[in-house]
Amino acid sequence: MSGSTRDHYDRLAASYDEIWAAHSEAFNGWMSEHILERLNLRADDRVVDLGGGTGIFSAALATQVHEVVCADPSPEMLAQLPRTSGALVPVQASAEDVASGRVRLPYDHVDAILIKEALHHVRDREAVVAGLARLLAPGGRLLVVTLPTVISYPLFRRALEVFAERQPDPAGIAGAMRAAGLTVEVTYETYRRGFARDRYVAMVRSRHMSLLSEFGDAELENGIREIEREHPEEVLEFDDRFAFVLGRHP
Ligand SMILES: C[S@@+](CC[C@H](N)C(=O)[O-])C[C@H]1O[C@@H](n2cnc3c(N)ncnc32)[C@H](O)[C@@H]1O
Repeated sequence: MSGSTRDHYDRLAASYDEIWAAHSEAFNGWMSEHILERLNLRADDRVVDLGGGTGIFSAALATQVHEVVCADPSPEMLAQLPRTSGALVPVQASAEDVASGRVRLPYDHVDAILIKEALHHVRDREAVVAGLARLLAPGGRLLVVTLPTVISYPLFRRALEVFAERQPDPAGIAGAMRAAGLTVEVTYETYRRGFARDRYVAMVRSRHMSLLSEFGDAELENGIREIEREHPEEVLEFDDRFAFVLGRHP
């Protein structure tokens, strides 16, 4: 991963769960259900949460299988894995490391790989998807959960433009999976978010999304003023829409 992405997650790691989880239990439950429904796990499946970060969704996967490998290039994110669960096996590796075989997993083949909101950090997505498809056992599933290129977050205009320029199109991810020999299904789900305005502004100021690391302090403060101007309401509500790109090994 790039130096700035690494810095972003190293800095954010300690507060990541607080920002996204503790205040979004309902969201995590909702998202976990949609992930589990698609992966259709069996107790002895070999499962990897790639770019798993602090393990929020590795823990959800571990409710259905004996063991989940949580792989992430950021040791600071991995250090936040829930300690109570022996079912989570941390592996410090990027998607590129795993796909190329540079870092070996505890298994030769896997039954399910989840990549939730991490594939946008990968530059050569075709090669990584192809490498991961080769790791799948017959019947194995690769599930990429990602934001679409157009999001309706109450961010400032320039941030939304930069997001749209950088974010991979789910159709492109589906194409890479098809090219790798997987059968693919793309579905969307929407979660209605609501954040108190002050809290949302504090999240933006803490650069809760890696996208915001692209902006200097002055640009960010200008952006926050724009958000405050455009959104006088006390609670900012918006639709958080996710693409679920599911590839299956035939
Ligand atoms: C937005 S967080 C998502 C974490 C977790 N999947 C979740 O949904 O809570 C993105 C994660 O991707 C990881 N990451 C960055 N570059 C990566 C890469 N090249 N391969 C795999 N993961 C990467 C970061 O360290 C970070 O933990």
